[in-house]
Amino acid sequence: MNSREICLSGTGVTKVFGFGNNKTVAVNNVDFNFYSGELVSIVGESGSGKTTLIKMLLGLTNMTEGEIQFLGKPRDIHNRSKKKEYWKNIQAIFQDPFSSYNIFSKIDTVLLDCIHMRGGRGLPKQKKIEMMEEACRFVNLKFAEMTNKYPFELSGGQMQRLMIARIFLLKPKILLADEPTSMIDACSRATILDMLLNLRNEIGMTIIFITHDMGLAYYISDTVYIMERGKIVEFGSANDVILNPQADYTKRLLHDVPKIHEPWEFSKRRAVVASESSV
Ligand SMILES: Nc1ncnc2c1ncn2[C@@H]1O[C@H](COP(=O)(O)OP(=O)(O)OP(=O)(O)O)[C@@H](O)[C@H]1O
Ligand SMILES: [Mg+2]
Repeated sequence: MNSREICLSGTGVTKVFGFGNNKTVAVNNVDFNFYSGELVSIVGESGSGKTTLIKMLLGLTNMTEGEIQFLGKPRDIHNRSKKKEYWKNIQAIFQDPFSSYNIFSKIDTVLLDCIHMRGGRGLPKQKKIEMMEEACRFVNLKFAEMTNKYPFELSGGQMQRLMIARIFLLKPKILLADEPTSMIDACSRATILDMLLNLRNEIGMTIIFITHDMGLAYYISDTVYIMERGKIVEFGSANDVILNPQADYTKRLLHDVPKIHEPWEFSKRRAVVASESSV
């Protein structure tokens, strides 16, 4: 899967929000190399800077410091047309699918825009419909039931699948997936993950996957980066990082993962908590 061509890299990437006493260093001087075709998970607790990093990678949030390179060259997104060009290659799906759509666009328009972004504006209407139908089929949505609806008329799970149908049509080189399965039940979650992994196999996409879930990261990733309070404290192959963690923070995150094969010992845990709180 991994051809070892670096598709996206960063040096000293930093984001500071606010000033003075209100200053938050959300991302603190991070370096990374993401290779073509690999699946990278970025794992960290809430507030560790994962979404801020993703937004900088996408060019939605300006960096305070640092440099991002795309395919070996400094990324140039200084004007609207350069940004649009960049977004042909890099797309994102976010935690909250409700925030990802223009609420005034019908679903056909959402999908048509993707075909147009890929240079398909001049295609015959029938061909465009076939492409939209194919994309909907890929994510188990019926295009005929989607036409003339607005995204807010869909359920959370349908909306998340629509996001993946967009990616199917856009075929970006890099997909940034910020907890894309956070809003859905375990069964749909497995389906969505499968769809993403199939898509990755089909078009050789690089996926940068954000999650709190170490077990999931181990299961799906080639490489894992661990983020703690804006810093990358450890990275490496999923096997190295998760089976042989070096950083204390990674060990702590792993310690908190419930083990499927071991019964949960609530009474023992309660006893530990009680004895800790009595000292
Ligand atoms: N627009 C903003 N203005 C000010 N502070 C912000 C802004 N966006 C994020 N932050 C702060 O930056 C830090 C990192 O936030 P971020 O959303 O990147 O975390 P996260 O790792 O994605 O968390 P979660 O797992 O809960 O989604 C937090 O302390 C947050 O409060
Ligand atoms: Mg987040």
